[in-house]
This record gives sequence, C-alpha cells and structure tokens, in this order.
Amino acid sequence: MRRPLIALTEVGKTFDPGGAAAPALLPGSLSIAEGEFVVFLGPSGCGKTTLLRMIGGLLEPTSGTIAIAGTPLWEGRRCRKELRSRLGLVFQDSSLFPWLTVEENVLLPLDLRARLPRAERLPYARAMLALAGAADIGARMPHEISGGMCQRVAIARALSYDPDVLLMDEPFAALDAISREALNMELQRLWLATGKTIILVTHSMAEAAFLADRIVLFTPGPGRIDSVIDVPFPRPRTRDLTYSPEFQRTVHDLHDRLAGLMGRP
Ligand SMILES: Nc1ncnc2c1ncn2[C@@H]1O[C@H](COP(=O)(O)OP(=O)(O)O)[C@@H](O)[C@H]1O
Ligand SMILES: [Mg+2]
Repeated sequence: MRRPLIALTEVGKTFDPGGAAAPALLPGSLSIAEGEFVVFLGPSGCGKTTLLRMIGGLLEPTSGTIAIAGTPLWEGRRCRKELRSRLGLVFQDSSLFPWLTVEENVLLPLDLRARLPRAERLPYARAMLALAGAADIGARMPHEISGGMCQRVAIARALSYDPDVLLMDEPFAALDAISREALNMELQRLWLATGKTIILVTHSMAEAAFLADRIVLFTPGPGRIDSVIDVPFPRPRTRDLTYSPEFQRTVHDLHDRLAGLMGRP
C-alpha cells in the first residue's frame, strides 16, 4: 500500500460567505497516494478548478483541512511555503512569458529560487525540456511554437521545481484532438518515468479513462465530489486499448454516471 501524500478532510469553498451565492464546492474528503494518477472529472462549474487551486495553495478553503505528507498546507490564512514548493502547477493556458525564449522560461524559476548552482541550471532546464518532450526548441520564442509545444514547455517549467505533485487544470483542452492524444501519451510516459503524483482536471471522459488510476467524479449544482472510480487497465496504456470494448464500456459508464448526476437521460 502506497503512502497517502495528499489528505483532504471535509474541504469546501464558498466564495461569498454570508452572501446568497451557492457554495463553489461542498465539503468533501479524499486521500491521494504517493505516485498516484488521479483525474478530477465533471461538467463545467462543479468546483474542479476550485479544489485544484486549494490543493495548490493558491486559494484558501473555507472549511476542512488539506495535509501534504501529514502537514497542514494552510497555516491560518497562509499557505506553508515549504509545502507549496512541492506542488507544480500547469494550466490550460501555458502562460509562458512571450518575451523570453523557451529555455529562459524554464530557467526563470530556477534562477528565482537559486537552489541549484548557476552553472547547473541551464543543463537542468534542458533536461526538463527533454523529459517533457520539448528538446531542441530551447532557443525559440513561444509564438514560434505550436500550442501543444507550449504546453510541453509549461510542463517542463513546472517540473523544474522538482515538485512531488503535478497539478494540471485542463492542460490540453485548447488543443486539437490529435495533439491532445499525443500529449496524453507523453504525459503517461512522463508519469511512469518520474513517479510523480499527478492530479489532472478534465471534462473528457476518454482522457480520464486513459490516464487515471482513479477518477474522482464531481457533480454540479452545487459542486461536490460524488464518487471515486478505479480504472484497472494495465500500464503502459496504448492507443489500441482505447479501441477495445473494455475501454469503450468504461467511457460509456462514465457518460451514464455523469448524465445521471446532471439529471439527463
Ligand atoms: N473567484 C470566484 N468568485 C466567485 N465564484 C467563483 C470563483 N471561482 C469560481 N467560482 C464559482 O464556483 C463554482 C465552481 O467553479 P470552478 O471551480 O471554476 O468549476 P470547474 O473548474 O469545475 O468548471 C462555479 O459556480 C463558479 O462560478
Ligand atoms: Mg475549471
């Protein structure tokens, strides 16, 4: 049994306490093991981003506790910095600095942190780019590379902190279907190679079934964690798997459950 790395206990969020707005996320609990690949799946507005941001230390919960390796992430209203640095974030928009080269974008956090000696930073940045499948484009500007490449660079930048956990909020949602499929394959490879814990948010049922060890289903109105589903397909998962009846059945089941949660046939 793998050690629990992230423990959520009755974590909830209301943006407007005392106001009339419904909670963004009703209190819910979840434990995520070290090295696990967990996918948050649900329709828009059900609180996936809100929960991911709370786990990432960007947003304070209004109820409950989040612990990383047994230590509370939030200390009163402040996020513990030493824990925050164990969490790497990747968003839908790669948010690269357009005036810096690819390499400089990955180097920047290394320079700001200055944990590595200066001479080691560039080789390290290049290794992270290679790990994310973006070798040999270090000298390019972000506008010169594709959206898929930008997301690889964003992943390399998040990896450059050497976080224990990668938190990814719909990282491939803006990409075309073929690029998205390629990046899902790459992400599985990266996860197998690094042993990082990954939480990925998506509303794609096929993406969830392909990537996840466990899928956390969210339900809207107001948002809450509904259930957790094990995905037992062996690794590495291949494109052929996605054509198999078992895979199709899993996607079908996810669809039926989500449609049921949303009150639709
Ligand atoms: N900063 C905010 N202020 C007020 N309401 C918010 C804020 N961020 C999100 N919400 C609301 O919280 C709910 C959940 O949003 P979100 O976590 O973004 O959902 P998802 O990522 O699943 O689409 C939505 O109703 C949304 O409008
Ligand atoms: Mg979202």
